[in-house]
Amino acid sequence: MYQRFILALFRNPKQIGAVVPSSQSLARAMASEVDLASQTVLELGPGTGVITQALLSRGIKMQQLILLERDGALAGLLSSRFPDTRVIKGDASKLENLVNPCGSRPIDTIVSSLPLLNMKREDRLAVLQQVFSVLDEDGKLIQFTYSAKAPIQKELASQLDVKGRKVTTVLKNLPPASVWIYGRSVEENSNVLGAKNSEKFS
Ligand SMILES: C[S@@+](CC[C@H](N)C(=O)[O-])C[C@H]1O[C@@H](n2cnc3c(N)ncnc32)[C@H](O)[C@@H]1O
Repeated sequence: MYQRFILALFRNPKQIGAVVPSSQSLARAMASEVDLASQTVLELGPGTGVITQALLSRGIKMQQLILLERDGALAGLLSSRFPDTRVIKGDASKLENLVNPCGSRPIDTIVSSLPLLNMKREDRLAVLQQVFSVLDEDGKLIQFTYSAKAPIQKELASQLDVKGRKVTTVLKNLPPASVWIYGRSVEENSNVLGAKNSEKFS
């Protein structure tokens, strides 16, 4: 798996946006934010499937999972690792058409490894508009970032009419990463630097 990740990294470093796959600690921290009442969970940029595996261990069933990955070889790897998930090879900026071509039910939870801060501002906006258009009114986007700053800047979040807060920082990851949640009904944290359960997953 590591080798597949490195090959993908050589093919398109900016799109991959990381030097190694996510750690088990980060994967568990992301998965622990998923509400188990979710009917459908969409994972964006699952890469080699480390977080996908953590979602399954948390109790989400393969049939509830949609995996959207732009890299063809990684999408192939995901299909063979998780045969009962719905794997879509495609770009998150076309999310609405790819995931919900008939305008069917909204998604409860989106778990994202997308390197949002590596994207040009207009690409980031296009992806996030799609994210919040397929997400249920009370749904949640779970996103990690390697940056000390929020993965979605405050002004962009207000433009999208969502709020966000940092829930944890995972030191056992290369590099350390913070997990944020966003949504229309998410409560902002007054002290975003001091997430309550920081390092719980380190
Ligand atoms: C940080 S890596 C994923 C790490 C993953 N959690 C792992 O452990 O393998 C980011 C992933 O997002 C995918 N990606 C980047 N931009 C994308 C886009 N616009 N649409 C879909 N996938 C994208 C990349 O191909 C890559 O697999």
